[in-house]
Formats: sequence, C-alpha cells, structure tokens
Amino acid sequence: MSDINFNLEEFNLQLDTHFIGTNIYFLDHVESTNSYLMSRNEDFENGTVVIAETQTKGRGRLDRTWLSDPKVNLTFSIALTKKDLFTSPAMINFAASLAVANALQNLFQLPVELKWPNDVLVKGKKISGILMESISAGSEITRMVVGFGINVNQSNFPGKYLILPTSVKNEYRGPISRERILSEVLNLFEQYLGFLKFDKKMLLQSWKEKCRMIGEKVKIESGDTQRFGVFVDVDVDGFLLFREGAQTSKITFGDVSLRGQ
Ligand code: BTN
Repeated sequence: MSDINFNLEEFNLQLDTHFIGTNIYFLDHVESTNSYLMSRNEDFENGTVVIAETQTKGRGRLDRTWLSDPKVNLTFSIALTKKDLFTSPAMINFAASLAVANALQNLFQLPVELKWPNDVLVKGKKISGILMESISAGSEITRMVVGFGINVNQSNFPGKYLILPTSVKNEYRGPISRERILSEVLNLFEQYLGFLKFDKKMLLQSWKEKCRMIGEKVKIESGDTQRFGVFVDVDVDGFLLFREGAQTSKITFGDVSLRGQ
C-alpha cells in the first residue's frame, strides 16, 4: 500500500488526459471541494480538479452530509466550463459514476453496480457517490461542478446511513493506491465525456448495463412520499421511467430501492 500521504507525482505519472487535471488544487482541508468550486468567482480552467484530504462539511445529494475520514479516501471535484459539455447534464452524471465503477472494476475486479441516479455499489453497499451542481447566468449554464466521494481505505463507518457504506479496502485484499484510482477515474471520465459528443447512446447503454434495478419492482422515496412500481428504464435526459399500474411517469429525483428492502 502507498504511503498515507497522497503522492501527487505518482498520480501525475499515471494521468493520461488532455484537459481534466491539467490544473489541480490539492488542499489539506476545506469545507467541501464542491463548495470551493461553486462559490469562487474565478475563471476556472475547464477540467480543474480540487482534491481535499479533509472535508469539514462534505455534502451529498438531497442536502445530505458526506462523511469521509481524513487522508484515507478520495474526495475531489471537477469544474467543467466548456459550454459544449452542457448540452446533456444527465449524461455528465452518468459519465462520472460509470468512470468510478469501471475504474474500480479494472483495478480491483470489484463487482460494481450502478444505482440511479449516480451511486456506485458493491454487493449492495455504497462505495462512491457523485454530487453534480451548476452555476447559471440567466438560463445558461456557465459552470458545472462534479464532486466525487470514493471510499478507499476507510474500514469502519460509524453513524447512520441510508445505504450501508463499504470501501475498496473492505472489498479487496491486495495493494490499493489512491493515486492510481484517482488517475484511472479521471482518465475514464475524460474519455466518457468525449462520447457525449458523438456516442451518447453508447454511454447510456454502458451505464444501463451496470444498473441491475432496471426492469425490477422498486420503491421510490422522496421526502415523506413513497411510491411503488416498476423501474422501466432510464432515458437520455437521465430521467427514471417509472410505471405505476398502467401509467408511466418520469422521475427526476429521489431514492430508489428494490421493493422489500
Ligand atoms: C451522494 O452520494 O450523496 C453524493 C456524495 C458526493 C460527495 C463528494 S466528496 C467531494 C465532493 N464535495 C462534496 O462536498 N461532496 C462531493
């Protein structure tokens, strides 16, 4: 296993991208890497990455908290500022979760699954989550921030979780390098963003192949509301197509779980 200190040089040697990660901020601690990139009035270069060893106010989807022990996991965000990437925000989300899933599969042969909209699971436990946010001027998006939390070397997760967490360390017996995981995720993310321009369908298809809930009976929870039906499909806009009785509707947010769980 690598030294506990993140080795930027080792990471850089394995980074094989054209724009993601050419500009990197490595912070010892910050409230949240997403908040950092969302709140600053700077012209961040497209693909700027902010990595933090400690987040004091890590945030998750739906106003939840993201908890991560200092220095053992990966918590980072990427700023996207090139407009041609903004035509399909949902696909950016899918590209991000697919990049994490495939990185963990390639490096550690983990049996990864994707859970709508963008969780990465291993044997039903959550190993990674993505938080995507955007800044707009009028109706135009000017910056997207994609935040990644990946549990790498943390073995215990005290506290209450909606889905039980796990980590690479808990699922893989062998050497684990945070540097290698980060470079692989960034390499794949950039590659998948490239598909957005000419092969959106293939990206969506690859995402769907790893989402085992499609076709299953599920429960969708949002706030105090629970709905029961069938997870029919995911469309190109990232909506979950949900059938209740004879009616199919589009779901934009919420927590989906297999019925009975
Ligand atoms: C979720 O599953 O709810 C999304 C979790 C996203 C966590 C990451 S950690 C890096 C980035 N900064 C944050 O505050 N959140 C994201």
